[in-house]
Amino acid sequence: MNLPKISGLGVSGKKVLLRLDLDCEPDPDDLRIKASTESLDYLKDKDAEIIIISHRGRPGGKVDESLSLKPFQTIFDKWGAEVYENLRFDPGEEKNDVEFAEKLASLGDIYVNDSFADSHREHASIVGLPGLLPHAAGFRFIKEVENLSKVFEAPKRPLVFVISGVKEDKQQYINAFEKVADKVLVGGRLPDFLGDHALESVRLQNGKVVIGNLVMDKEDITLNTIDRFETEIKKAGTIVLSGPLGKYEDQGHRQGTERVFNAVANSSAFNIAGGGDTEAAIKLLGLSDKFDWISVGGGAMLEFLSKHTLPGVEALK
Ligand code: 3PG
Repeated sequence: MNLPKISGLGVSGKKVLLRLDLDCEPDPDDLRIKASTESLDYLKDKDAEIIIISHRGRPGGKVDESLSLKPFQTIFDKWGAEVYENLRFDPGEEKNDVEFAEKLASLGDIYVNDSFADSHREHASIVGLPGLLPHAAGFRFIKEVENLSKVFEAPKRPLVFVISGVKEDKQQYINAFEKVADKVLVGGRLPDFLGDHALESVRLQNGKVVIGNLVMDKEDITLNTIDRFETEIKKAGTIVLSGPLGKYEDQGHRQGTERVFNAVANSSAFNIAGGGDTEAAIKLLGLSDKFDWISVGGGAMLEFLSKHTLPGVEALK
């Protein structure tokens, strides 16, 4: 995929609008912040004037001080960067409003998108700005595209997806991945959202999609489900892990996440994971260095893996 690179832009002395994903706590150790440092270092080295733009949370087009980006300013002082306020305080961001995009564009000379995690959103700062300013993809953005593309460009088989977590909208990806994968293992709260299917014992399911059974309080997968998922993971050549298997924050509901994540992490397969909760669980279990790639994207990773592109990728091309 030929994405324009920062090195092709001539950023020296220019005002660069750098779109990051600061939809996290103002913690310099957060993966989303750490992922932005290569672009920041490069821009600082070239004496660019850096203006960081991002959203945080879902304030719905209104000012919500609890979602302000002001607490992030000190983190980015190191690069002499200025952090602009939460874009979603203005309704124009999510509407991809032309006037709002033009107002943003007037703040800079150049636009760089290093916010892969938000590039599934057709918002002004993702798809509007590249039409108004010379633009490029940031370093992390390009690495995300390169690493995630390995999953659909001649993956080592069997290709296994673990789709899990608490977000109901993840259901939509089960059918898309069923077409390309050898196994789609479904856990977390998703079996509950899928209704009747969840009643079929995991041991009797022979199709590509295996829907896990949940324990009585629905906060974890059953032992039979853990065993079945581990068996499929052991055979895999490529694994995509998206979402914890249960309420891993509670020790009493951590078993499914602990065993399945360990199986994925210790497999010899090409293994990738993505999403905020998934990354937090990987950190908690001390497995961070056992993945070939941990994506900053949750929804964006799944969308990219199912469609092989994103609105934010197309806008940069
Ligand atoms: C994420 O956390 O996945 C991104 O920041 C996108 O946030 P959104 O789902 O609120 O658009």
